[in-house]
Amino acid sequence: MIYIKSKEELKKMKKAALAVAEVLQTLKENVKEGVSTWELNKMAEEIAEKKSFIAAFKGYSNYPASVCFALNEEVVHGIPSKDAVLKEGDIIGIDFGAIVDGYYGDSAITVPVGKISKIAQKLLDVTEASLFNGIDQAKPKNRIKDISKSIQDYVEDNGFSVVKSFVGHGIGKNLHEEPQVPNFVSEMSQLGTSLKSGMVLAIEPMVNLGVAEVKILNDGWTAVTADGKLSAHFEHTVAITDNGPEVLTRLN
Ligand code: MF3
Ligand code: CO
Repeated sequence: MIYIKSKEELKKMKKAALAVAEVLQTLKENVKEGVSTWELNKMAEEIAEKKSFIAAFKGYSNYPASVCFALNEEVVHGIPSKDAVLKEGDIIGIDFGAIVDGYYGDSAITVPVGKISKIAQKLLDVTEASLFNGIDQAKPKNRIKDISKSIQDYVEDNGFSVVKSFVGHGIGKNLHEEPQVPNFVSEMSQLGTSLKSGMVLAIEPMVNLGVAEVKILNDGWTAVTADGKLSAHFEHTVAITDNGPEVLTRLN
């Protein structure tokens, strides 16, 4: 079932979303050659501790850390490691979730490390723009399908592919709620779901330079592209309001 959030609930969700946005901002500022994903994860945990909010991913389905990373060909859910040291030319996905007053916020960015290739930059730009295309469709009377289609069309028109093994989701008192928000159109019945004021969605395109297929590494978490080519991921938690989409995970 799809939960419609009240004004009061949306206020709490905004707090969780801002906590997430602040962490992502700080981690982004600290992305540079020589830094490990373990250190970035520790930074996120220190901010959560200091600001008294809960890092949502730690322990969720037994995930062992607070941040999910995605280095280069990694798509999502990479576990922080002291051995994963950033170097010039890398792209690094940073995905963080927080709980405040019982409500979740969830957002992700992909960040360049120093100077990156033109094609890597295009992948970042197209993926982020596809997210905002999807967000533009997140308004009353539209359907989930309108979000999915606008993302897929934009990505494929630019010659890249959308990942189909993972999807966006409703979010609220749970990290993952109905409806699913795929980044592609299919026969899935939930794509026909009408959007209503008070729904909150985590919209999160994962875009590959090459093939759409992914595989999971032996750690049981890290998803990588099947062809070893680059992948990017951007995500926002978005409330549907009578005035259109409101991006909650944005620093204003
Ligand atoms: N943002 C991701 C998602 O929506 C990360 C959650 S994975 C976790 O699924 F298990 F680590 F929490
Ligand atoms: Co998510």
